[in-house]
Amino acid sequence: MGVKEIFETMDYGTAPEGAGDALAWITDQGARFGHFIDGSFKKPGETFETTNPATGEVLAEITQGSESDVEKAVAAARKAQGPWEKLGGPGRARHLYAIARLLQKHSRLFAVLESLDNGKPIRESRDIDIPLAQRHFYHHAGCAQLMEDTMPGRVAHGVCGQVVPWNFPLLMLSWKIAPALAMGNTVVLKPAEWTSLTALLFADICRQAGLPKGVVNIVTGDGVTGAALVSAEVDKVAFTGSTEVGRKIREATAGSGKALTLELGGKSPYIVFDDADLDSAVEGLVDAIWFNGGQVCCAGSRLLVQESIAERFHQKLRARMDKLRVGDPLDKSIDVGAIVHPEQLSRIRALVDGAEGDVYRADAPVPEGCFYPPTLISDLAPASPLMQEEIFGPVLVSTTFRTPSEAVELANNTRYGLAASVWSENINVALDIAPQLVSGVVWINGTNMFDAAAPFGGMRESGFGREGGPEGLMAYTKPAGSAKALKRIKPFEGDAVEPQAVDRTAKLYIGGKQTRPDGGYAQVVYDAKGRVLGQAPIANRKDVRNAVEAARAAKGWAGATAHMRAQVLYYLGENLSARSDELAQRLNAMTGGKSGAREVETAISRLFDAAAWADKFAGEARAVPMRGLAMALREPTGVIGALLPDEVPLLGMISVMAPALAMGNRLVLVASEPFPLIAQEMTQLLETSDIPPGAVNLLTGPHEDLAKTLADHADVDSVWSFSGADLSAGIERRAAGNLKRSWVNYGKSRDWFGPEAGARAFLDAATEIKTVWVPYGA
Ligand code: NAI
Repeated sequence: MGVKEIFETMDYGTAPEGAGDALAWITDQGARFGHFIDGSFKKPGETFETTNPATGEVLAEITQGSESDVEKAVAAARKAQGPWEKLGGPGRARHLYAIARLLQKHSRLFAVLESLDNGKPIRESRDIDIPLAQRHFYHHAGCAQLMEDTMPGRVAHGVCGQVVPWNFPLLMLSWKIAPALAMGNTVVLKPAEWTSLTALLFADICRQAGLPKGVVNIVTGDGVTGAALVSAEVDKVAFTGSTEVGRKIREATAGSGKALTLELGGKSPYIVFDDADLDSAVEGLVDAIWFNGGQVCCAGSRLLVQESIAERFHQKLRARMDKLRVGDPLDKSIDVGAIVHPEQLSRIRALVDGAEGDVYRADAPVPEGCFYPPTLISDLAPASPLMQEEIFGPVLVSTTFRTPSEAVELANNTRYGLAASVWSENINVALDIAPQLVSGVVWINGTNMFDAAAPFGGMRESGFGREGGPEGLMAYTKPAGSAKALKRIKPFEGDAVEPQAVDRTAKLYIGGKQTRPDGGYAQVVYDAKGRVLGQAPIANRKDVRNAVEAARAAKGWAGATAHMRAQVLYYLGENLSARSDELAQRLNAMTGGKSGAREVETAISRLFDAAAWADKFAGEARAVPMRGLAMALREPTGVIGALLPDEVPLLGMISVMAPALAMGNRLVLVASEPFPLIAQEMTQLLETSDIPPGAVNLLTGPHEDLAKTLADHADVDSVWSFSGADLSAGIERRAAGNLKRSWVNYGKSRDWFGPEAGARAFLDAATEIKTVWVPYGA
């Protein structure tokens, strides 16, 4: 008998992992768990059951956290925070190392417990979830050690409220807790209600590691407990879960000043070109969509395959699907385990039942109970709900494309932007497609690779903020020092004068042209002595929409080289410099102050700074433990709408505009409300500059009204407010609509002359990280 026959006749034998130790740990704890608050487990309160989805058997009782439980945990975290931060980076690093080592020591216990509670194959919890969780603590121990050197001037937020989902319970906990602790924060974490056990085991580990009381608190419960944590007195909220809940959290925290990061859903494209290594691409798909039963936010759930190879590829894929083993998660030979909960199973069924397209279910035995067969649905139209909605189960949808540009169009035809895979043996094709994808992560000839050193996170409705790498640390820190309350500046008043003739009305600057305001209204602007200085147009919703359209159309600016953008900014600086005396006087007249000259001088230096940064803020390669590079690249955010500060009309405008332009964004700027005439001066400067039409659009008018339209607009990617008007809550609430980014002042002032208004913070806010994983040295 040849080897081939031996392989074909070999029977599959089970290889079960023992559950004894994990079950014994549960029993030792009384199989009823209270919260872990201030260093100890509290008495269980009202409880609910957590079950093993593969068997339906009850594993333990978990406490449903109340508002007062959350408050106690937050109070414990608050008390612990000061001393924890004062311990210093190296002191905290030792605790994080201790946790990492204990995770390693108890790795099998964690892996089995995770598979029991979640239903994921032991092969995955053992080889992926738990090792990556350890890696996170090791990596972030190093981040704590180096904090003083690498994060100068930054301090912890304080207390973090963290809510995680059920798909990677311990791993998501590690992604949240390790960076938070490293930077000197303390945490209250709520695990998902279906999978709390490894978080509770982790609490036990914290105790064993001698972590100071109150630094880590675990409060269990469902979404109601999660909502209570989000509303509690925490300084930062970090959430991973569905886009729907992410939106609610954005609304609930609007205006509170709590820092927020959201890791949400996805419908990630998996693009296979005709020159791909098809067998590798098929094997990659096993990891993309059948890993963790497809219950993965960045699952490659949308297959786009080039038409010329589609039939052959689908054939190979179906053959591979038939070989997948579905069954007992504790069996080491199992590929696809149980679905996390019967409720999730019925959500999957509801989406797939009656699906259009060609439905293929793997020809493999599927046990009774909470299991779902690997499924492929092909021949779907791009607009089909199954092509658009996150299924969050082992279901792959597929369509075909003809040309690379069609592939990009299909890939980006989604409200999400979390991850993408590109398969091609042609380096030119792969590296041409990667930058065109709207996606926080791109894997070239690979899929589902993660590492603590590589930022992970989404664009568009996949959320904002990054986890991992220095970007993840930024999200757990803020600049040192506290800001004063911002005082609102009223415009000067004067005697009314006759309105000017219509053709002399002041204009807005939209799409490179001076445009009359849609409403036809202008306001008279006075100086401190009540004399008329000029007229400023009053923009309305229509003008905002026109400005956004012009900005959208000015795509060329994003594609221009950084060197070219720098030259344009230098030139603008020179032009400003040539008019400095005149502008300084004009500013003094507008504001009734004396700081005009200083304002102009600082604005010129800001332009030169931004020009200098233009080609030096591109991102960097991150050392990940594979034969490859993770390149954390900075891309422009897109169209940014900004309400500019009242108090320094020119300096505010330039400080915001210059770094955002340097990074390739297009802007809709609303000038200082009390001193709007600066827009006319800037219009003249922009007209004589090389900034292409539409890259900067200038509006004047009431900040409150214009902010609403900007925050509601689906084609605006980010809204910033430095206005003296109280806009923060409204902008953040409205931004929840399409989860656009926002950066607002919460009524706090900024020293526009000082380093805090320097380029760095603006460069960060003006860019999105795209992490591109490229095979290298393989
Ligand atoms: P979910 O977003 O409701 O739950 C995630 C976490 O948020 C859980 O800990 C939950 O208790 C908590 N939570 C729920 N409502 C909350 C609220 N108002 N405030 C604060 N926390 C709250 O996700 P769920 O119901 O578990 O799954 C629903 C769908 O969401 C899935 O079918 C899947 O499509 C998607 N999902 C996406 C995940 C991702 O990583 N992108 C993770 C889990 C689910």
